[in-house]
Amino acid sequence: MIFYFSATGNCKYVATRIASATNDITVSITDCLKTNTFDFNLKHHENIGFVTPTYFWGLPTVVIDFLEQLKIKMNGKHYVYHIITYGTINGQTHYMMSNYLKKICLSLDGKFIVKMVDTWTPIFNLTDKDENQKKLANAEREIDTIIEYVNDKIKGDYNNRKGHFANLVYAIYKYGRKTKKFTVGNSCIECGLCEKQCPVLAIKTDNGKPKWIKKQCTLCLGCLHRCPKFSIQYGNKTKNHGQYVNPNVKL
Ligand SMILES: Cc1cc2nc3c(=O)[nH]c(=O)nc-3n(C[C@H](O)[C@H](O)[C@H](O)COP(=O)(O)O)c2cc1C
Ligand code: SF4
Ligand code: SF4
Repeated sequence: MIFYFSATGNCKYVATRIASATNDITVSITDCLKTNTFDFNLKHHENIGFVTPTYFWGLPTVVIDFLEQLKIKMNGKHYVYHIITYGTINGQTHYMMSNYLKKICLSLDGKFIVKMVDTWTPIFNLTDKDENQKKLANAEREIDTIIEYVNDKIKGDYNNRKGHFANLVYAIYKYGRKTKKFTVGNSCIECGLCEKQCPVLAIKTDNGKPKWIKKQCTLCLGCLHRCPKFSIQYGNKTKNHGQYVNPNVKL
């Protein structure tokens, strides 16, 4: 069973590829949260995988919400792994995952990383499509290696992009992630997708246009990247930095 969280498709793509190569199934963390599904019974010796993005060198808050409610009924010995997708540095993401899993008596056997397109467009410019494509092509090789490791249940920490002072970087996210920085432009066609796809129900449409009804959200930028008219912005840099969704997967 492979649990994943994905706002813009990178993690969904990785989870789907690993699942099809290892004869496994994927479970969307967003769907679990929306349907209050937290209890899982495992098959005998079944693998347990997690695929998550890095947010500010740590785990997205939405993943933490899920892990805090997750109950897994074990059945034999399980190989447990966590794959991080990231753009530059992934900091304490594995460390945080290990700590939350300890609380439900799981320990990570395999720690893997896949470098992907970085969806944090308040900083990164994603308008160069060829550059994005190169990153996705490189990611294929990393995914192929992870498939071999998971198939052979290889143990180890294969993360070389950790960085220091991750707590400081993560604090910016934990106490920041303010929805007041979102704006919606006149190009909005009132399709409602932003409300529908928000994993934490932070958006409600009012006369067809999105309104942010929570002070904080998980800051996945799914609303910004998936809007069909690129009508949503976060701060004043994102409008020049383009939109991105992983082209190899359907969201
Ligand atoms: C709020 C936010 C913060 C991010 N912070 C980091 C980071 O600290 N380090 C990093 O390498 N990538 C960072 N990223 C990039 C994502 O981890 C990366 O693009 C990931 O593959 C997105 O996964 P998804 O497409 O499945 O949602 C960040 C993205 C977002 C939206
Ligand atoms: S997804 Fe975009 S176009 Fe659709 S309602 Fe939201 S802001 Fe408007
Ligand atoms: S409001 Fe937008 S950025 Fe925040 S959690 Fe919802 S979809 Fe993600």
